[in-house]
Amino acid sequence: MPGPLTILGLETSCDETAAAVVRVQDGRPQVLASVVASQVAEHAPYGGVVPEIAARSHVEAIDQVIVRAMDKAGLSYGALSGVAATAGPGLIGGVMVGLSAAKGLALALGLPLMAVNHLEGHAVSVRLTENAPYPFLLLLVSGGHCQLLSVAGVGRYQRLGTTIDDAAGEAFDKIASALGLPYPGGPALEALARSGDGARFSLPRALVGREGCDFSFSGLKTAASRLAADLESEARPHLAAAVQAAIAEQLADRSARAMTVHDARYGQAGRLFVVAGGVAANGAVKLRLKSLALERGFEFAAPPLAYCTDNAAMIALAGAERLAVGLTDPLTFAARPRWPLDETAARERPVHGGGRKGAKA
Ligand code: KG4
Ligand code: ZN
Repeated sequence: MPGPLTILGLETSCDETAAAVVRVQDGRPQVLASVVASQVAEHAPYGGVVPEIAARSHVEAIDQVIVRAMDKAGLSYGALSGVAATAGPGLIGGVMVGLSAAKGLALALGLPLMAVNHLEGHAVSVRLTENAPYPFLLLLVSGGHCQLLSVAGVGRYQRLGTTIDDAAGEAFDKIASALGLPYPGGPALEALARSGDGARFSLPRALVGREGCDFSFSGLKTAASRLAADLESEARPHLAAAVQAAIAEQLADRSARAMTVHDARYGQAGRLFVVAGGVAANGAVKLRLKSLALERGFEFAAPPLAYCTDNAAMIALAGAERLAVGLTDPLTFAARPRWPLDETAARERPVHGGGRKGAKA
């Protein structure tokens, strides 16, 4: 067994400035510190993330966030084995802030740099707290992504399905906004749905029952937003519950198909279904996917709330896993606004071109 690896991780790809220190010993990770400075209040007036505001805010916050993480971990910089940072995909101005800070530290301290794909961070996030051996099937659902991947190990991904239009989190956010809920909409919509009866509305469930493992949420987004526009106030919880149920069902239907594909490849050894990303924080979604896993003979695992949404602990862990197998990066590594986990699938089966969601996928 190699000695312990202690990694400082940085995350700045969207609207959280985050730093964390993770130590991995004998294959077991321990989060020594995880600091997240959220910019939600700065973006809230605009109903979404404004890239220029995000980039400036990351610049202002990053030094303090790093100092706080190191203080909390109770470590000097000399105790670190390496520095990891999100190098994409994401809002490029923000990604450059975290990556540059990591490069500066790596250079000054003479430490290896690990340029981490943000999606890889989400992919390994479950391993911060759960026993989740490779290979596993991953449903990655966040504000910018909705993908099904077979994860064979760090850096080894096969994409089974992805969204052909919006990400599930984006649908949550847009519909929530149409319902007059504050940004970010996912958690607010979940709270509203608690007192609702989803059966009162019938909403589209795109691609359910169809071939393949791809997703589509734009029809649901349009239909629900139209309904939200002129709705009696007592019906709002019902619409919120119907939206949540429709998204959960779409995710479950596509995941069931991916399980068949994944199972044909990995069999019993791969029967673990992991759900990660911001939308995995949703209780109803998680419940639906957990019962699907049990029906299909898969174990189920999801990170705790704090590691579902963007954080730097997952980036530090991905960095540690990379360093352990000798995957380090040069200081010339450039930030990447787009960076698919499975580059072959993205090249051979592209699903969408430019535009907002394209920027992160
Ligand atoms: O992973 P994340 O923090 O950032 C991205 O990489 O996109 O995910 C944020 C997304 C947002 O769309 C947010 O509305 C959604 O996750 N989200 C939720 C919940 N908590 C966060 N969606 C539904 N229910 C929730 N409880
Ligand atoms: Zn994320």
